[in-house]
Amino acid sequence: MTIKRLLTSEVEPGMVLANDIYDSAGALIVPKETRLDKSIIEKLEKYSIFIVKILEGYDDENVPREIVGYYEKISATKEFEEFEHVFNQETLKLRNAFNGVVDKGKDVDKAALLQGVDNILKANRNNNNMMDMLNCMRGYDDLTYVHCISVALVCNVMAGWLGMSKNDTDELTFAGLLHDIGKVKIPKQIITKPGKLTDAEYKIVKHHPRLGYEILKKCNVSNDVRLVALMHHERYDGTGYPLGYSGEKITKFARIVAIADVYDAMTANRVYREGMCPFEVIEHFQSGMKMYDPGFLYQFLEHTAQTYVSNKVQLSDGQVGKVAMINKSELGRPIVLVGDKVIDLSKNSKLRVVKMM
Ligand SMILES: [Fe+2]
Repeated sequence: MTIKRLLTSEVEPGMVLANDIYDSAGALIVPKETRLDKSIIEKLEKYSIFIVKILEGYDDENVPREIVGYYEKISATKEFEEFEHVFNQETLKLRNAFNGVVDKGKDVDKAALLQGVDNILKANRNNNNMMDMLNCMRGYDDLTYVHCISVALVCNVMAGWLGMSKNDTDELTFAGLLHDIGKVKIPKQIITKPGKLTDAEYKIVKHHPRLGYEILKKCNVSNDVRLVALMHHERYDGTGYPLGYSGEKITKFARIVAIADVYDAMTANRVYREGMCPFEVIEHFQSGMKMYDPGFLYQFLEHTAQTYVSNKVQLSDGQVGKVAMINKSELGRPIVLVGDKVIDLSKNSKLRVVKMM
């Protein structure tokens, strides 16, 4: 049995809910394991529940209870359910705030938006690894608001790793929240299109940094925040857009948000399909290293890798072991203990970590 995330608009009668659904006041609307029909789907829409989790392979007679997989285990915890609930509520608030700014010319309420991020951080009460919590939220990255909140949370975690002041942390988190605001101006059919974009569509999407900058120019936000919207697709080696800037010509905050943005895009939509593995993400980043600020990237990848020391992992030949140590020079290839055998992946190019257990 697997869990799949769907937009409520994509849900069909006969599908089975994977989790309890609550309204904004916290009252239960539809309990988990309910088989959906037209009237329940309408009810979900009425309550502005725009994302649901569906159980695939559910058999009413014979319910298999075993939860497999690292992320599914986290997803099944009470803490995660609470985290997800607050996350979804804050996503709705961010959507309203974006629309207020873009459609009604309202000002940006920085304090309220940052409070939203703080609510999510506090909802992670047991201080679980934020990257793991976010990885469990994947599956609907096409929603700009969800992506923006994830990027803001990754930025917040990165600010901590980089030892930033409270002020800079807030500003970077805020910039992460607003970085893609320009996407609100891109036709929705393109933003939510499943599958690959055509060249013409991609060209349109590439307007969003400038559009975001134009929107924020009219708002009461700092220039740092505006420049993140403009420059988060610039690349350190000059291969990005829209300006083709390189190195430190790209602002510091934009260089950090670029990493958080790519991290989120890379991990999105993959967890439930194939079991995203953080070490795979690290190796991926390292192969395109020149595109990012080397200092920020190293800090990011080292901390990400470090959080998985002692984790149970599966190797590409099926062996299961425990991450014993991270190799500083090859962060995606740790030293793994399998029984009493020590396998140094930096010296064994045929093997790699494929799965968290
Ligand atoms: Fe973007």
